[in-house]
Amino acid sequence: MPVISEARVASLYIHVPFCAQKCAYCAFYSEPSGGDLINRYVAALVHELEMVADDLKPRTIFFGGGTPSLLNLRQWGQILSAMERLHLLGADEFTVECNPATVSPDKARLLRDFGVNRISMGVQSLDEALLERLGRIHTRQMVFKSFDILRRAGFDNLNLDLMFAIPGQTMEIWRDTLNEAVAMQGEHLSSYEVIYEDDTPLFARLQAGEFAVDEDLACAMYEELVERATAAGFRQYEVANFAREKSLNLQPSAFNIPALACRHNVNYWRGGSFYGLGPSATGYVRGLRTKNRSNTQLYCEQLEKGERAIESREELPPLKRAGETAAFGLRMTAGWPFEEFQRTTHFDLRDEWPAEMKELAERGWGKISPQDFQLTKTGLRFADSAAELFLR
Ligand SMILES: C[S@@+](CC[C@H](N)C(=O)[O-])C[C@H]1O[C@@H](n2cnc3c(N)ncnc32)[C@H](O)[C@@H]1O
Ligand code: SF4
Repeated sequence: MPVISEARVASLYIHVPFCAQKCAYCAFYSEPSGGDLINRYVAALVHELEMVADDLKPRTIFFGGGTPSLLNLRQWGQILSAMERLHLLGADEFTVECNPATVSPDKARLLRDFGVNRISMGVQSLDEALLERLGRIHTRQMVFKSFDILRRAGFDNLNLDLMFAIPGQTMEIWRDTLNEAVAMQGEHLSSYEVIYEDDTPLFARLQAGEFAVDEDLACAMYEELVERATAAGFRQYEVANFAREKSLNLQPSAFNIPALACRHNVNYWRGGSFYGLGPSATGYVRGLRTKNRSNTQLYCEQLEKGERAIESREELPPLKRAGETAAFGLRMTAGWPFEEFQRTTHFDLRDEWPAEMKELAERGWGKISPQDFQLTKTGLRFADSAAELFLR
């Protein structure tokens, strides 16, 4: 039975669990797969959308993966028509993640026609040898070509994902990639330091001693990123995220973020509710965290029986939830204005975490003012460790 409440949930994440091939570093739930399972997934996803549509009025939608752009025109048409029928279109921000090897003019136009207005492209590097070593299926040329296709289809809000501290990536290679990426004049840049995830081929190579982690180089690359992106007119608003200020037809945001920041992710970091659909997706609705099954077959089977494929539900105690919200929000350069934190969580950072904030300030990682608490430039570099202090 659909849940109906006064305020419908304004944010929707949909996970597409397929990739043409698995990259060496990636631990997101996805599998290389052919047609039948994808068709079955599309039908199951439409069922899942039908089950939650009454509780949704999406202002932001994000199709992530996996590789959403791997779906063909017919599959996209099915999903988007279902969303139209269920009154789920018309979001202020509607993002689809794309791999540069799977962008075509027809697909770009179809997405645009249904209201997709932001594309996030997984570029990772513009160095041919590194792309190959990472197991990427695309070349540098495909990045430039896909970017062009997307612009021609009318997309005026494009994000590029990059990675740094990749084994074998020198500072010179990183600078070249950064320079070329900013020269493309996208609206948004996300850039992550490589994480060595368990059970990935890259992690196995590290364990086997094929290369070593150079922490100093990683720090220098992060500094280079911040400097280069800022000089090119981006504003950093989160540890790994940079956006331009120029405004599209978006509602102004209540937060101090650049006009073209990813609103969908800002909602996560600010502890907002969101539905998460598709295999392995997590959702967070009115304090209840859910996680869908990380197995596409089982996900489909369960939805075919008319049930949502939720494998776990967790209702966090309010203080624990507030701690997580504090931790997430500190990833943003704006940190936490105390009043906003209180409005969101009903706890006051100054009452619950005074010692932790003081400790971070003493380490030079945090900055306390009468109105807010923020991480410093150094603190942002170590945001994960800083955030741990707030988890209860
Ligand atoms: C789920 S991927 C989606 C994009 C699309 N699948 C692609 O790769 O083209 C989102 C981004 O996460 C980043 N990422 C994935 N695994 C990572 C890892 N182990 N370390 C750092 N960044 C990672 C990559 O930059 C990637 O583009
Ligand atoms: S990085 Fe993207 S394309 Fe590569 S395996 Fe992960 S989700 Fe798939």
